[in-house]
Parts: sequence; structure tokens; C-alpha cells
Amino acid sequence: MQTLAEMAVEVLTTADGRAKTALGRRHAAAWFAARAAGAPLPVGRADPPLRPARPARPELLDPRDVPRRRPGSPAGRIALLHAVGHIELNAVDLHWDIIARFTDHPMPLGFYDDWVKAADEEAKHFNLICDCLEAMGSHYGALPAHAGMWRAAEDTAADLLGRLAVVPMVLEARGLDVTPGMIDIFRKAGEDGPIAALETIYAEEVGHVAYGSKWFNWLCGREGLDPKEVFHDLVRRYFHGALKPPFNEEKRAEAGIPPDFYWPLVGDGLSVAD
Ligand SMILES: [Fe+2]
Ligand SMILES: [Fe+2]
Repeated sequence: MQTLAEMAVEVLTTADGRAKTALGRRHAAAWFAARAAGAPLPVGRADPPLRPARPARPELLDPRDVPRRRPGSPAGRIALLHAVGHIELNAVDLHWDIIARFTDHPMPLGFYDDWVKAADEEAKHFNLICDCLEAMGSHYGALPAHAGMWRAAEDTAADLLGRLAVVPMVLEARGLDVTPGMIDIFRKAGEDGPIAALETIYAEEVGHVAYGSKWFNWLCGREGLDPKEVFHDLVRRYFHGALKPPFNEEKRAEAGIPPDFYWPLVGDGLSVAD
């Protein structure tokens, strides 16, 4: 029987986005079917790659070399969706990576339920955005994309608390801050497909941030650590940049991240990592 960690590695080592997400969704369905039957699949152990397999396209560029386009034009809106698609594919890999990488930490099965569900939702998000791009005459891979997205995963490959602090609680929380503005751009253009896709993403990302904060707090509790102090320390250590307001205080609160976690980190990054 395939273990969950082996399933995760299989997803991580599949390059094509549609194939990666289809495989991930099948594995997620198998995990939840076994859970519902009261016979959970073993988590097991596996050896995830340091970097996941990715398609030959998009070309990955330093963020400074990725051309910026005005969102007021159709080409600008395609570029914006392409960037979101890239983030979603990266998120698929990030969630399967946290499943496979930290199996030496004994965690409740609920930890795996949460990240399998998040990975499954990211696969849905990637496919929704690909469908929008294709309806607009483009596709994922047609434009260059940001090369630095996996850095947070590499930096925190040996630190589960660091991974939870930086990925769901900083990067995915940032998604909550910026998504309403993106939805407005498509609303002004009267483009219903992207509005619906982004609204699904916005609603489900609150859950991913909440999983991050839940397991971060849970681990701090197990180790007898002060979550706020540890969060500040880990974000300063692993996140290359400052946290940028305005924050979506409402959705961050819904996801269990209090203001005294993020406000003290505004403006104290070592470098600008836009
Ligand atoms: Fe997502
Ligand atoms: Fe997410």
C-alpha cells in the first residue's frame, strides 16, 4: 500500500501542472476515503526532492526581470492571472512538501488531513486559473514567471515551525491582503470567469492560513514556547523582506492571526524582496 509520504513525493516529482494537480487530487481523494472508512493510510516516510519537478514552461526569471504590465489592459489581466496560476502551482507543491518533509515529527492525523485538503484546494485553484487563461486565449506557461517562489521552502526545509511561520502565516496571509484588489480589477473589466475563480481562492485561502496558525500554536504549546515570540524570531530569520501593510485584519483574525503577530514585523526586513 502506498503511504501518504510516497504519494506526496509522487506529486512533487510530476512536472506538468495539469498532471501534477490531477494526481494530487486522486491521492487526496484516496486519503479522505480511507479516513472516512476508519482505516487511515499510513503516513510513512519518504525522501522529498529539495525542489519539485516543474514544466519546461514558464521560463523562470528573477522577479526584477519579469515584465510588469498595467492591469487596465487585457494583456495586463492575463499577466496577473498567470502570476496567480504560478503561485497556485507553487502552493500545491508547498502543501505536499510539508506532508512529506517533516514525517520525523510525530503529529496528529489532523495535521495531515489539513494539508492534504489544502493541497487539493490549491490543485483546484491552479486548474480554475488555467481554465480562465485558456478562455482568454492564453495558457499557463505562455509568460515568464517568478523564479524565487521555492526559496521559502528551501530555507525552512529543516524547521517545521519556520515553515509554518513563513509559508501559511506570512505568504498565504499576504494572499488574503491582496486578493480583494485583484477581484476589483476583474470586476471593473466585467470578466466573470476570473472573478468567480478568485472568489473561490479567497474563501479557501482563509482555511490554509488558519491551518498554519493552528499547527504553529499547537507545536509551540507542545514545546512550551511563546508563539508570538517564536513567530517574530522565525520570520526575521527566514523571511527575506518586511511585512507590508495594508493588512486584511478581518480575514487574518478569522484565520487566527492576531495583529501583534504581524504589525511588529512591518519595516524591519533586511532587504527588499518584492
Ligand atoms: Fe490557492
Ligand atoms: Fe493556499
